[in-house]
Amino acid sequence: MASAPPITQNPDIRFLGRLLGDVIRAYGGENLYRQTEYIRSASVDRARGVAGADLVDTGLDALNLDDTLAFVRGFMLFSMLANLAEDRQGIAVEPGADMASAIAALEGHGVSKDAILALLDKALIVPVLTAHPTEVRRKSMIDHKNRIADLMLLMDSGKSETDNGEVIEEAIARQIALLWQTRPLRRERLYVQDEIENVLAYFRDTFLPVLPALYARWERVLGARPQSFLRVGSWIGGDRDGNPYVQADQLRFALSRACEAALSYYLDELHSLGAELSLSTELAHVPDAVLELAERSGDPSASRRDEPYRRAITGVYARLCATHEALTGKAPSRPSTLSADPYDDPAALRRDLVVIAQGLASDAEGVLATGGALGRLIRAVETFGFHLATLDMRQNSDVHERVVAELLKQAGVEADYAALDEFARIALLRRELASNRPLGSRFAAYSEETASELAIVHAAAEALKTYGPQCITHYIISKAESVSDLLEVNIVLKEAGLWQAGVDGAPPQATIMAVPLFETIADLESAPSIMTAYFGLPEIGGIVTRRGHQEVMIGYSDSNKDGGYLTSTWSLHEASKALQPVFAQAGAAMQLFHGRGGAVGRGGGSAFAAIRAQPPGTVQGRIRVTEQGEIIAAKFGTRDVAAVNLEAMTSATLLASLEPEALSERDAARFTAAMDTLSHGSFTAYRDLVYGTEGFKEFFRELTPIQEISGLKIGSRPASRTKSTRIEDLRAIPWVFSWAQARVMLPGWYGVGHALHAFEDKALLADMAQAWPFFRSAMANLEMVLAKSDLGIARRYLPLVQDQAAADVIFGRIADGWGKTHDELLALTGQSRLLEYNPALETSIRLRLPYIEPLNLLQIELLKRHRAGEDDARIKEGIELSINAIATALRNSG
Ligand code: PGA
Repeated sequence: MASAPPITQNPDIRFLGRLLGDVIRAYGGENLYRQTEYIRSASVDRARGVAGADLVDTGLDALNLDDTLAFVRGFMLFSMLANLAEDRQGIAVEPGADMASAIAALEGHGVSKDAILALLDKALIVPVLTAHPTEVRRKSMIDHKNRIADLMLLMDSGKSETDNGEVIEEAIARQIALLWQTRPLRRERLYVQDEIENVLAYFRDTFLPVLPALYARWERVLGARPQSFLRVGSWIGGDRDGNPYVQADQLRFALSRACEAALSYYLDELHSLGAELSLSTELAHVPDAVLELAERSGDPSASRRDEPYRRAITGVYARLCATHEALTGKAPSRPSTLSADPYDDPAALRRDLVVIAQGLASDAEGVLATGGALGRLIRAVETFGFHLATLDMRQNSDVHERVVAELLKQAGVEADYAALDEFARIALLRRELASNRPLGSRFAAYSEETASELAIVHAAAEALKTYGPQCITHYIISKAESVSDLLEVNIVLKEAGLWQAGVDGAPPQATIMAVPLFETIADLESAPSIMTAYFGLPEIGGIVTRRGHQEVMIGYSDSNKDGGYLTSTWSLHEASKALQPVFAQAGAAMQLFHGRGGAVGRGGGSAFAAIRAQPPGTVQGRIRVTEQGEIIAAKFGTRDVAAVNLEAMTSATLLASLEPEALSERDAARFTAAMDTLSHGSFTAYRDLVYGTEGFKEFFRELTPIQEISGLKIGSRPASRTKSTRIEDLRAIPWVFSWAQARVMLPGWYGVGHALHAFEDKALLADMAQAWPFFRSAMANLEMVLAKSDLGIARRYLPLVQDQAAADVIFGRIADGWGKTHDELLALTGQSRLLEYNPALETSIRLRLPYIEPLNLLQIELLKRHRAGEDDARIKEGIELSINAIATALRNSG
């Protein structure tokens, strides 16, 4: 194997590392500083292959428990600062991942701007923020980090002092000192309310200002003004799958706070506009419509008598204040002095703003018309409405089944719904959906579960009246596996009037769309037949055709846990492809919702590449994608980074929708056949190991920190849905997370090597890697995960397993699989080492590897002591800190 060239240390890392070292010395003492430095340089030497550099353990052995905690904290902070430095280095714009390049590429293929605009006219692109518990860092830590990033930007601009006269380097050192003394672990559990507040900060700081600015840029590139096709969604306060703490109150809270954030933003913007638009009737021509709006405002101010724009804005401001009060029950922070009627809806607010904008545009060839703050505000109102983000509801199909069974039983319709077969269930549910008579009764005593489910749909119905139809549009059904799973949700929605049976010849109406989430390999395979049957029901088919689109959600993590990386990736691809004709037949556009996480085992990797790698014809301008955990801070932590990521998602969607198919029919056929074979081989190897190996479950539970991970307070939802320890019942997040900690990262690669190894036509594989975006993207992600895994370190976890004989055998199989995957991947891509052709990622990973190893070794020590029954609280804390630190260093581990 060729050895990698030496890596050059990023100067920012060196700078921040030096300041951190100073802080450690000042607060932790000379001794800790020296120990840390010693271990750091020994680790770096070891990673560089310096002869005899095997000192890491010796250095670590010398640490007492207090020092261990301090040391882990230091390395965690170092990783955090290294991430920051790396993010600064290039907000990595992937080649072609911007609108102008996408449009140019499409025009190169003969796709006209008109065709692009026509697509955008019907498009919907939505990142959906969720509270999936993979963000280990507290918000306070992230805030300090962001302040450092801002200070460094100031330094880049050539300044040496902040606006307040503080020396920038000292200000950065202060933030690092604060970081050093901020507790990284949460002591208290996280509540849903906290998750709601955390995500709102991203809306205020990022999405509200960034989206309108992006649209303004795109209008210039497109030469036209598209509708607001890019919006933001949320699950926080609506996703109850396995989270009993999300109830009607949380839904109400989420929506009310979101409304408050949107309206406060508009009020602030209006306030600045009022200051800006000082045009006087003595000097400007002002159209009648503006004068009328000014007159209606009731603004009595004498000084503004000749300033109709300001008066008009005062009136709009007053009405918006009244809206704020009406919708949130609170006065805004800067109330109006005038009393006014609230706006009925965002469209009414927009109309007033447009009057003002048209007034400005009507004079002097529209010099004042161009975009500006008012243009951005109009765009914001169109995009965020009064609801800010569409909130999805989600619940598990098992819960719906129990709720419907109870409703039917209490209503005397069916005593044992659960005992009915699918055919009988569908017949019964359709009968109920054909009538507007609800099943529920105010006088019945329902189980807690049913009462809570009913309460939340009633809360949703109220919310739709208050905030408008965009506030909740989708209801996701986890573990969907049948038509009745979809119909059951419509029954539950009917209880709150959100499904209306068509009577007297009127068609039925579904206010909220029931969306199946297919997430096992078998369910992905049945997705086309389930959707065919669902669309085949006349009442559903009619709704779908009238609506013009339907969403299907596909789950990356659970399909991976079920069938391994390659099979999951392929099944998702194949299911999407097979769904396309089903939708065409139903006369509806297909909207796929990709449920993916940050780690490769949960569908992570470049979103740009992933969207472009979708099967041809399956992205029809409509796509939703989950964004969650640590990925939210990584992709939307600052405005610049957010703009890059949102633009990449948009341009990828345009390309995937309009670019001609890259593969010839012949290649498509032979590549598909090859992937079927590979997927089969990978599935067999993966299932054999994970589900077919005696003692594997115990091996996994003892080798990795899975049990300790449950103790981390990183999310409001419980770590597990059930008490079972079966891998089938484990949530995908802790499964992937714990393999990452032990550096095995099994879900990201296991099985691929077996499949590639057994595949004889290597030339065909090379063709696939060269010509097929799907395969290229799959292999690129595989390569990233392999580069972050380290079986040498993983082997050090082996003594944690009780049955050593079994552990040796299982680990031997894992190591063999890793070797095959590694060797085959290199052969396939023609590289002499991993990431040879991806120098940026190679540098990034190799820079941080040395810092992870000591953390792993300490984690192992602490796990040993913890599991041997030592009850010093610092041991548990040390384990949790180490989990936190390793996750931070790996960047996308959860
Ligand atoms: P879920 O998410 O367990 O909430 O369905 C799975 C995942 O994203 O890993």
